[in-house]
Order: sequence, then C-alpha cells, then structure tokens
Amino acid sequence: MSSYLANPLEFPDVQPQGFPVLENEPVFDPAKHLQIEMPETIISLKEFGYSDSDIAECPCDFGITNVFRILSDEGAKCMLEVAHLLEPYVSSNARIARNVRGGVYQSKFLRDLCQSDELTAAVSKICGTHLLPHTIPHQLGHMNYNPKEVGENVDKWHFDTLRIDFVMFVTDPNSVEGGEFEYYLGTKHEVAELKKAGKPLNPDKIKAPVMPGPGYAVLQQGNMVVHRAKGLTQPGERITMVNGYVPRDVSFPDYTRFDQLYLVDPPHMAASEYSRHVSWMGREFLHSRLQDFEFNEDKAKMAEDFEKLAQMMVHAAEQLRNADEAKIEHFGDG
Ligand SMILES: [Fe+2]
Repeated sequence: MSSYLANPLEFPDVQPQGFPVLENEPVFDPAKHLQIEMPETIISLKEFGYSDSDIAECPCDFGITNVFRILSDEGAKCMLEVAHLLEPYVSSNARIARNVRGGVYQSKFLRDLCQSDELTAAVSKICGTHLLPHTIPHQLGHMNYNPKEVGENVDKWHFDTLRIDFVMFVTDPNSVEGGEFEYYLGTKHEVAELKKAGKPLNPDKIKAPVMPGPGYAVLQQGNMVVHRAKGLTQPGERITMVNGYVPRDVSFPDYTRFDQLYLVDPPHMAASEYSRHVSWMGREFLHSRLQDFEFNEDKAKMAEDFEKLAQMMVHAAEQLRNADEAKIEHFGDG
C-alpha cells in the first residue's frame, strides 16, 4: 500500500467511429440532478467470508452497501430520457441480452454524471479509499436493458472485472414484476466450488435489496461480490446503469480482464482503451517513485519496484496477445 494518490486520466479527446453524439439531451447539473444520501449499512468482505489474504489484495475491506439514493427526482427523469435516447444502440453478448456500453462517448449527460466529482467523493467516502472514475471509458455508465423475452434474466451470476461499481435503477423497479438485483452473501470461491460440483447456490445467502425507486443504487466491490440481475416476470421496462471506479492507489493489482472486455467491446476501441489504462497505471507508478524520492541504500527495493513495473507491463502485453482465446466467464442462471 502506498500513500501516493494517482492523478486522474482525462477522458479521450478523440471521438471514436460508430458512437454518434446524442443531440437534444439534458445538460447534467450536479446541484439539480444529484441527491446523494449516504448508505446506513455496509457489509464487509470479511462478512462475505473472505480471508485476510484475499482482503489484503483489495484496496479496502468494503463489500456492499444497503440501498442508497444518488439522483434527485429531476435527475432520475433526465437519466431515463438519456437511457431511451441510447436504447437504439443496444448490443448483446453471451452474458447480457441487451446492453449499451460506451454510452459516455455519445451522451455528455451520462459522461458528466459518471465523472462527477461530488459522486466520486461520496463513493470514495463510502468505500473508505480514494477512487477515480474508471480510466477505461467502456467501464463507465454501462446500461442494461431488459431482454425482449419475459423471464429471461437480464444478467447471469458473475463478478465484475473491475474493483468498485454501483448498480443504479434508471426505471422504477416498483412499476414492474421481477427484475431484482441479487447478490450472494458468500465468496466467489464458494460459488465457483458449488458450480463445479453441480450444486445450487445456498438460497439463504441470496439477497435482493429493496429499491424504493429510480435513482437508487447499491455500491459494491464488484470483483468480490457475486451478483446478477433477474428477468421480469411480466412485460415491462427495466433499465439499470452501472458505473465503475479505480483506486487512486495504483500499488494494488489491476483486476482488469482485457480478454473479457475484448469479447464485448468493439475491437477498434477495447485494446486502445486497455493500453491507455495500463499506460496511466505505469505513469502513476513511476510518478509515485519520483515523488517519494529520497537518498537511501536500499537498492533491493529499487530493483523490486522496477520488477513490479516490468511485470505489470508484461502482464498487459500477454493479455493483449492472448485475448482471442477467451470465452465470456459467468456462473450461469441457477
Ligand atoms: Fe456486474
């Protein structure tokens, strides 16, 4: 763990092909659109059953919050309007039938909301660690839309390939039947073992937080909390928005899985975004060493730091080269 806090990475100033900018959308105003009410309870990773060594690899011991409010009524109304403007751009993958990724390139409202300083400060406070909006733009403002088929799950059981994210309802969850967000109050290792043995998840550990309305969310350490989005049981509309964050302490291992992103994001963007993210990590890692400069004799530590940086870069190169072999990973519907 380092005391150095990474500098933010600016959003790319190049507009990618295939992501037309929305016209006539609302303008994000944090004073009008945010109404952040801090969560009252937090379940720690320890309570999920994680070991001390698992937790030591994480930037904080934070697991998941209870439901809390992010948007005002006006903010929720604008968010729904933007979600409808983005809906013609839905795509599908092996895990999710209908989603929009990269909407932050198309909607300034979504981009400004996802990168809002007020929201980032609140999310950092909840987790107890300094965060930045995710440095991979496709990990910001991910939108899920319910499948056309009633009963089909929105998203299967899985854990995320990023550290911290919130899942916020854009539509009113009380206006539909079903469509719950669920998480498993156990470890990802336990779920993997149950799946391998062909056994079902323990129903007592499946939790479905009650969402009072649109603009409400849960914040989670998404790569440690196994979760899913259930399908609607009656025709209706269910839209959620997921926003990702990275820790400002870049000494923690990066959990980005390029192989998984490459399966769902456009090839002309996924590798570039990942390379840019790893370059930022490298830049900040070196910057921390320059900032902490002092005269000392510990050449072994200096060597270790260079090895750590080299491993980070080699790991990224391997991910880039080997991505074509991958399949989308998840724990299924059961
Ligand atoms: Fe997720």
